[in-house]
Amino acid sequence: IPVDPFTLVVFGATGDLARRKLLPAMLHRDIAGQLPSLARIIGVARREMDRGEYQAMAREAVKGVDADGALDAFIERIFYVAADAESDEGWDTLTALVNEREDDTVVYYLATGPDLFVPIAEKIGTHGLNQPRTRIVLEKPIGKNAASALTVNEGIGAVFPEASIYRIDHYLGKETVQNLMALRFANALFEPLWSAAHIDSVQITVAEELGVEGRAGYYDKAGAMRDMVQNHMLQLLCLVAMEPPSSMRADAVRDEKLKVLKALKRIDTSNAASVTVRGQYKAGASAGGAVAGYLDELGEPSQTETFVAIKAEIGNWRWAGVPFYLRTGKRLPSRVSEIVVSFRQVPHSVFDGETPRPNRLLIRLQPDEGIKLFLMIKDPGPGGMRLQHVSLDMSFAAAFQVRNPDAYERLILDTVRGNQTLFMRRDEVEAAWAWVDPIIEAWQASSEPPRSYTAGTWGPSAAIALIERDGRSWSEGDV
Ligand code: BG6
Repeated sequence: IPVDPFTLVVFGATGDLARRKLLPAMLHRDIAGQLPSLARIIGVARREMDRGEYQAMAREAVKGVDADGALDAFIERIFYVAADAESDEGWDTLTALVNEREDDTVVYYLATGPDLFVPIAEKIGTHGLNQPRTRIVLEKPIGKNAASALTVNEGIGAVFPEASIYRIDHYLGKETVQNLMALRFANALFEPLWSAAHIDSVQITVAEELGVEGRAGYYDKAGAMRDMVQNHMLQLLCLVAMEPPSSMRADAVRDEKLKVLKALKRIDTSNAASVTVRGQYKAGASAGGAVAGYLDELGEPSQTETFVAIKAEIGNWRWAGVPFYLRTGKRLPSRVSEIVVSFRQVPHSVFDGETPRPNRLLIRLQPDEGIKLFLMIKDPGPGGMRLQHVSLDMSFAAAFQVRNPDAYERLILDTVRGNQTLFMRRDEVEAAWAWVDPIIEAWQASSEPPRSYTAGTWGPSAAIALIERDGRSWSEGDV
């Protein structure tokens, strides 16, 4: 789909997200020939520097991208304005630069802390920079609980209409996450089986090998629940559990996700201790070396969780009684994100003394993106009817020899195209907080600190007990 000429204004242009993700994403799209010749990027940050200095910073930020001859032309697209939300300084320059090209679609990308979302939007408003051709992109987390999310949403909503607000959850931009929708709704095979009648349980794991990597200031206020569960994990759960939307139109998809969020069964002080586990890593070994514990990295006491496991349930006809086990953490043994759908046992085994293992569908989001369907077959050979568990394997790398674009590449261009399907609507964000808040409150009310786990292990043993109590176990790779 062609992209109109646009100006991308990145607030927080000197920050981690802009340098690590946004600039490389734009360069990749440029190399792919997808940026119109007039597309430009205006970096905005507090720091005083001129255009040349920011271009040098950008050059450094994209040095990992194999750009061949495209780099210089890309760097020429980049401008810089020193401005912030606290003063009017710099805003006239920004206004003049944006208005210089009055036909561009303009995307304001707020790659800043959430505290700055509303102040920046207000400044955009007072300088008349919110026009029908403009859009605003907010990074997660939107607030830190339902009340603050409401404040952010109201504040942004006073300057931009909902149709111009793009709340990013970069998991929705991942190829394999979008594939989940293709798998479910472009195949007739799964949908008839996709309910409590045939599915025993679902597991969603987002495991990271990394620790908090110099982000302890932000992370310690968030924790795994706000950083990963409220957004990425719940979005994945929604895509697995939602009813088929009538189309891929943004609101058709988002209406269905919202229903799932609203149907999540409440977890609070009455049951949090039995269906949630929070953990915090202590020193251990990861990625082949010794690593410090979370508290050593932080340098002060903290009860912030770096690991969460939850047994969630969805109270509707389709999913009644089917547990959704969610698990995410930092400093786990490997980086792996996957969804495992476990089907029910056959009702009766006709094989003497052998019970077939239940079928499982594994959707690997990263790394080694792919889909595996585990089936029972007869063990080859004359040895009688012995059964074996094997997988039908679809590895994206093997099937398509193409580069897997980063989520941001797709999402930034979607904002220019005006496609909100892969962005969270206001009510979704608020419904997700409404489920998360009572869990965090229950943890705060309990005198129990997070359980510690050694870096490089699969979290506290209580997380294993959480699922084993139900006669199930976490999948580890091959299921
Ligand atoms: C971010 C979180 O949203 O997602 C980080 O803030 C986390 O803490 C990251 O590391 C994981 O993203 P990905 O794409 O590497 O799985």
